[in-house]
Amino acid sequence: MDSIQIFLGMAAVITAYMLWFSHLSRRLSTGPNLWPVVGSLPYLFNNQHRIHDWIAGNLRRTGGTATYQTCTIAIPFLAFKQGFYTVTCHPKNIEHILRTRFDNYPKGPQWQAAFHDLLGQGIFNSDGETWLLQRKTAALEFTTRTLRQAMNRWVNRTIRTRLWKILETAENEKKPVDLQDLLLRLTFDNICGLTFGKDPMTLSPDLPDNPFASAFDSATESTLQRLLYPGFLWRLKKTFQVGAEKRLQKSLQVVEEYMSSALNARKENPSDDLLSRFINKKDQNGNAFADDVLKRIALNFVLAGRDTSSVALSWFFWLVMNHPEIEAKIVDEISTVLKQTRGDDPAKWVRDPLEFDEADKLVYLKAALAETLRLYPSVPEDFKYVVNDDVLPDGTFVPAGSTVTYSIYSVGRMKTVWGEDCMEFRPERWLSGSGSESESGGGYRFDPPKDGYKFVAFNAGPRTCLGKDLAYLQMKSVASAVLLRYRLLAVPGHRVEQKMSLTLFMKNGLKVFVEPRELNGGVAACA
Ligand code: HEM
Ligand SMILES: *[C@@H]1O[C@H](CO)[C@@H](O)[C@H](O)[C@H]1NC(C)=O
Repeated sequence: MDSIQIFLGMAAVITAYMLWFSHLSRRLSTGPNLWPVVGSLPYLFNNQHRIHDWIAGNLRRTGGTATYQTCTIAIPFLAFKQGFYTVTCHPKNIEHILRTRFDNYPKGPQWQAAFHDLLGQGIFNSDGETWLLQRKTAALEFTTRTLRQAMNRWVNRTIRTRLWKILETAENEKKPVDLQDLLLRLTFDNICGLTFGKDPMTLSPDLPDNPFASAFDSATESTLQRLLYPGFLWRLKKTFQVGAEKRLQKSLQVVEEYMSSALNARKENPSDDLLSRFINKKDQNGNAFADDVLKRIALNFVLAGRDTSSVALSWFFWLVMNHPEIEAKIVDEISTVLKQTRGDDPAKWVRDPLEFDEADKLVYLKAALAETLRLYPSVPEDFKYVVNDDVLPDGTFVPAGSTVTYSIYSVGRMKTVWGEDCMEFRPERWLSGSGSESESGGGYRFDPPKDGYKFVAFNAGPRTCLGKDLAYLQMKSVASAVLLRYRLLAVPGHRVEQKMSLTLFMKNGLKVFVEPRELNGGVAACA
């Protein structure tokens, strides 16, 4: 074939694709207008700095009624086959996708292929039997008290030996800190400790660059980039080892070496981490897991549990800074609980991070954290692949091979789901009971909505987040450790904005000054 023929052939294929794309665009069109050739691209481009709010706006406009909250976003040539996203935030649809017709909505082949080099067939990146076996094994471990104790030990240590030191220095030198960065480091250290018993100590006074952490970051980023382009493009780049694919390869090597040494260490010297537990388990054939599989399993947990809690905590602190009356209630509750367990002297309240049963009593704090996740879910949009043609409960048709997105961010911001005041930060909506100070838990009970699909920050159904309780424990401990000792003040001119990524980071971090807090009894917290 000469080059003219190749050119004509390609032109024909592209034209055919475009015609088909336009046809389907018209057929599926609900929500934002779909343009003939470019689909939703013009809108996406215009709204690229506020994607989640743009999606929520579209869903609100689809009628804003309780019966219909679905729209279609179409992007030609996207990696997700066909580029059609059905986006929904209707709790009934979400239940249908996550539970009722679970088998029709797996992570799917594009997702799995993109993540395969980093995550292999691990729990976070598999479907069907492969997933189910790991899920069962892991679920057993996650209910054990020893795992919660292990988490609390790691958190306790990072707070005492590092977070408090850094905040103390910031206080003394009156220098701002980027709280989000500190929290990202803290949770990364914790999840590594919990997963494979080795703390990379990325949270240290001089905030060092850590080769493993950077390699892991870079591998995650390059992997996500794969999802932005048609599959053949990254495969081609991979074959020729250029651009992001070359970086990915390098990062994976660093990650691989680090995990090998962690695995060897745990084989010689087992501990109460997840990896040690999996070393002793058997696969479906009754054999021990191969080294490579063990490393992947550990990496899946690191990815699942690393940024989510730190991002949630960042939004929590920001919301609390902007709602002094809620801040006061939180500090009050912690003080009341610690008075019972540690006595009247506030110096004793701030000496050590929370014990296990102390954390359990903090009901108002838990409500404030859940309320944060309602408005700022760490995973703002999530995707599933459609195996067979299906119709969602609200009547939306979803074609086989397309992608359905459920917008966790939007569910929390629908009046039809959360009421007229859905945009307000109001922890009380999670509580029932008197709120009387004399009873334990301030007389409150944590009382989430009866319909579990109104709040899906931790996912729901068979693939519910396994780390939810651990995450609440960790977040409560960090929240108390910071708020009992310090008042946080916004750095003038610092803008808090959402970063447009699959995790709801703050784009410019969270820059704050810290000032010592005076606790009831007039004793300076940090004296
Ligand atoms: C505030 C903190 C957290 C949030 C908001 C969160 C949220 C989520 C979400 C949305 C999913 C579903 C992802 C998907 O399948 O597309 C998930 C899954 C998962 N999470 Fe979490 N997570 C948090 C913390 C953690 C922690 C600390 C751990 C581990 C210690 C963890 C372990 C997992 C695992 C293993 C899965 C996969 C479950 C499965 O596919 O069967 N998570 N989480
Ligand atoms: C935290 O560490 C300190 C010092 O080792 C210890 O006294 C305290 O009991 C620990 N708390 C928890 C919850 O592990």
